[in-house]
Amino acid sequence: MTPRFSRRQVISLAGASAAGVFLAACSGNKEAAPTATPANGVAPATPRGEGAPTTGWLQPRELTSQNGVLEATLTIAAAMVPFGSSTRWALTVNGTTPGPTLRVRPGDKLRLSIDNQTLHATNLHTHGLHVSPSRNADNPFLEIPAGQIFEYEIDIPPDHRGGLHWYHPHLHHHVAEQLFAGFFGAIIVEDSFDAQPEVEAMQERLLILHDARVGATEASVTGASMMDMMMGREGSTLLVNGYRNPDLAARAGSLERWRILNASTSRFYQLALEGHTFSLIGGDGGRLSQAEPTQQLSLVPGERAEVLVRPEAGGSFRLSTAAVNRGSIGQGMGGAITSSAADLLRMTVTGSGVATAGQPALPQPAAENREVTRRREVVFSMQGMNFLIDGRPFDPGRIDIRADLGTTEEWTVRNVSTMDHPFHIHVWPFQVIEQSKGVAPSGLKDVVNVPAGGWARLLIHFGDIPGKTVYHCHILDHEDMGMMGVIEVS
Ligand code: C2O
Ligand code: CU
Ligand code: CU
Repeated sequence: MTPRFSRRQVISLAGASAAGVFLAACSGNKEAAPTATPANGVAPATPRGEGAPTTGWLQPRELTSQNGVLEATLTIAAAMVPFGSSTRWALTVNGTTPGPTLRVRPGDKLRLSIDNQTLHATNLHTHGLHVSPSRNADNPFLEIPAGQIFEYEIDIPPDHRGGLHWYHPHLHHHVAEQLFAGFFGAIIVEDSFDAQPEVEAMQERLLILHDARVGATEASVTGASMMDMMMGREGSTLLVNGYRNPDLAARAGSLERWRILNASTSRFYQLALEGHTFSLIGGDGGRLSQAEPTQQLSLVPGERAEVLVRPEAGGSFRLSTAAVNRGSIGQGMGGAITSSAADLLRMTVTGSGVATAGQPALPQPAAENREVTRRREVVFSMQGMNFLIDGRPFDPGRIDIRADLGTTEEWTVRNVSTMDHPFHIHVWPFQVIEQSKGVAPSGLKDVVNVPAGGWARLLIHFGDIPGKTVYHCHILDHEDMGMMGVIEVS
């Protein structure tokens, strides 16, 4: 089947001017949210972003599947978006960054028309979905030229696990700049866990972490030096759902359920919530079989976590990220590369009380004793400005790894460079069985940090979905510079 393009109609002048400025249209979740007002090219009357919101929790608007189909047009366009009392240049999805959240169920079909109204080619990847990478599904080799529309059709298997995933562009050489500029959004797959009364009673929140460079023009936002790209670009402005240090109003005695996504291009987070312990119930590939209490939550680019938080005393509590060292370029070029410490949001708790709700039932998957049929090594390395896997830069015309459908392989991902590289593979999640540093995370993952000079050993089951796709470093500048390989499963 050949990719289907349709030539866009000429935009009317009215449409073109209306497209000039968009307001971040968000919807509150189970709480009243401030209403969006058009910005009309002038600064919005109500300062948004810094300090806002104060009366609810703003998260991206949601698109939900109807009768098993989520049909939507996602328009990718440059726009000025609200920022504090001013605006900033961003790449938006349907006018906002983050773009709308896609909320689906196992067995649903995603029918997405990507309307590329930018001046550059792009495409779409559904990170974390266990779906076909072929034809017009989650195919990272497609290209949507500027000014054209492409229709994706992605079937979510009926046995797909529930969890938080996300979408972002995947056009080689341009992924970092387009994601950095704002093109990304969440995908939530709901399953029977979400339907439990204990879970429905919780306050569900989505927290998309991103770091932006604030500027008024495309060049000031996406321009990057060779040094920026080698280190992996970071923005100095940290945002949650597009807002700087927003307020999250919680009630003591309630149970907060947070789905957190690191949608940063390169920044590592080490999260802590003042006065509270996270109860980790889910990771990249869905829910854990047992809740894990933790004070600190580490999220490298692309990683997700689902946590429960129990506010019990009134007060104001900061969610912050600590400084994280992620190695150095080496070769005598500069010192340590550090993702800086910062405050992300403030949780304001009113009242007092202890949550009476019980712990929800977590899935207990049947133990699967799968025989490893093949062992491989995958090596991340850096040579000057070359970012390599197994000594080679990415070549879309080459297949680096061929695996057999239905088999399980054990991969040792080794990092022989001086910088950390988060390993990611599309379509088939893995289990981390051992790693050079720290305790292997529980549950299924699709991103794992491989520290400088270290390694991670993974078990990957190439189940029921065949096709050709990619694995790469999720510091997206490194991916763009070649740290990516092609895998074909058949
Ligand atoms: Cu979010 Cu190829 O990745
Ligand atoms: Cu991915
Ligand atoms: Cu890397």
